[in-house]
Amino acid sequence: MKVTWKLPDGSEISADVAEGTNMMEAAVANNVPNVIGECGGNLACATCHVYVDDAWAGKTGEQDDFEDAMLDATEAPREDRSRLSCQIVASDGLDGLVLIVPEA
Ligand code: FES
Repeated sequence: MKVTWKLPDGSEISADVAEGTNMMEAAVANNVPNVIGECGGNLACATCHVYVDDAWAGKTGEQDDFEDAMLDATEAPREDRSRLSCQIVASDGLDGLVLIVPEA
């Protein structure tokens, strides 16, 4: 599936991501800035915070309570479209997904 990250400077990075890969791993593998993934995808750091593009709202699955709590600890402001990208896993249904990378 194809994913595009929109960066704070207005540029974009697009990549093909294998099914089953989470969006934090995919961002790190493609040198997307500001997506760190410090805890390795264990929902313990919030450094993989992204905003889901409005066109994809509601299509990336539900947050569980733990992700919801961790989203209160993000560096950039939390928004309704905030997700921890390690919790979004590549699948056919997400082909073309657009994620917005926060400033911090
Ligand atoms: S990588 Fe740590 S919460 Fe996603």
